[in-house]
Amino acid sequence: MRILVLNGPNLNMLGVREPDIYGRRTYADLVSFVKETAVRLRVEAEVRQSNHEGELVGWIQQALGTADAIVINPAAYTHTSVAILDALKAVALPAVETHLSDVSAREPFRRVSYAGMACLKTFAGLGFEGYARAMEYLVDFADGMV
Ligand code: DQA
Repeated sequence: MRILVLNGPNLNMLGVREPDIYGRRTYADLVSFVKETAVRLRVEAEVRQSNHEGELVGWIQQALGTADAIVINPAAYTHTSVAILDALKAVALPAVETHLSDVSAREPFRRVSYAGMACLKTFAGLGFEGYARAMEYLVDFADGMV
């Protein structure tokens, strides 16, 4: 199983950016965590990050035929991007949304998720663990367990 793990804007700043909210671990630490999780789950994971909406849209489109499932943390584009929602709907691959922070407990504008409307499930507020939960969910989904 090939899982494409996409990260949106400013997630490359992990470790530096608002550590009270996002913690002190870096984006490189996140990539390592996802790769270790992939080994544990016996899946392949490709991890990418972009600060550009169109690049994320392009990667979602390219997933058709090259990936079996998508984990996405669209970051700020979660709350603004109909283009990412439409791309997820266009490829119709099983997708799970994850957020490091508990978006439901922050500013009101973070309560809306466009991408989430095309996702099977959302994990939020679990830090890196949310990525593992999302990958586990997609493996279970592929096995018909959920
Ligand atoms: C985030 C939450 C978003 O609201 C925010 O814009 C981010 C990160 C998270 O992982 O908690 O950049 O997606």
